Amino acid sequence: MNPTDDNGSPRNPQVRVFSDLQTLSQSLAESLVESIRTAVEDRGRYSLILSGGSTPRMLYQLLADEYQEVIPWSDLHLFWGDERCVPPDHSDSNYAMALRMLIAPSPIPSRNVHRMPGEIQPPEEAARKYEQTLREHFDGVNADCILLGVGADGHTASLFPGHDVLEESTRWTRAVTDPPPDAEHARITLTLPFINRVLRSVFLAAGRGKRRVLRALLGGSPAQRRTLPAGRVQTPEGPDWYLDRDANPREGEQS
Ligand code: 6PG
Repeated sequence: MNPTDDNGSPRNPQVRVFSDLQTLSQSLAESLVESIRTAVEDRGRYSLILSGGSTPRMLYQLLADEYQEVIPWSDLHLFWGDERCVPPDHSDSNYAMALRMLIAPSPIPSRNVHRMPGEIQPPEEAARKYEQTLREHFDGVNADCILLGVGADGHTASLFPGHDVLEESTRWTRAVTDPPPDAEHARITLTLPFINRVLRSVFLAAGRGKRRVLRALLGGSPAQRRTLPAGRVQTPEGPDWYLDRDANPREGEQS
């Protein structure tokens, strides 16, 4: 059941603005650690779906370093929202970034790291294999939290504007072999049917380059928001938006 307000419209997004990426990452790390510890005490596990891109790097580093002693790593399971169709040691791999910033510096057991196999060809086979992985973990159970970035064009994960992957209504993963030119690689991505069944979604956005798209995503009508892939994310809890001041569309309005 997606959150709606009294007249059935999607609930307005919860927005938190921080002076910089460091304080944004610190606050989100604290929120995640609290959620992880509570869920593990209640249910014995927590499944976190990681975002790629550059914005979450500092958050991942904080979780592995500053919060290493308080995270119940043996009960934390990691998944990915999308992956580039490259080997796991490729400089553009979302897994490679998480390995460097979060996984290698932490004691998380390798059995808890459920990598999206971007290297498998064709990409459709990689998507099919990851769907199997998701079905093993989430048939009848919802993932706890998905971290998402947003592109200046409003994409999230590898759900790009105008792409037919946005209309996928049953599968949980899809290959995107024709991404926009600046996306560089073919991708594997979670689809909206899967993303919108995750219990909580959190967007991270930093930098002035995101201000314009965030004005549409946070200030537009529900109908305007839905024209952008990131605006199609509606989870039982969230989406919560963690922005730095430069990305805040309201910055400068007061002055
Ligand atoms: C990817 C991401 C993508 C990313 C946004 C924002 O694989 O690139 O999943 O959706 O989150 O493009 O990227 P930045 O954090 O680098 O701005």
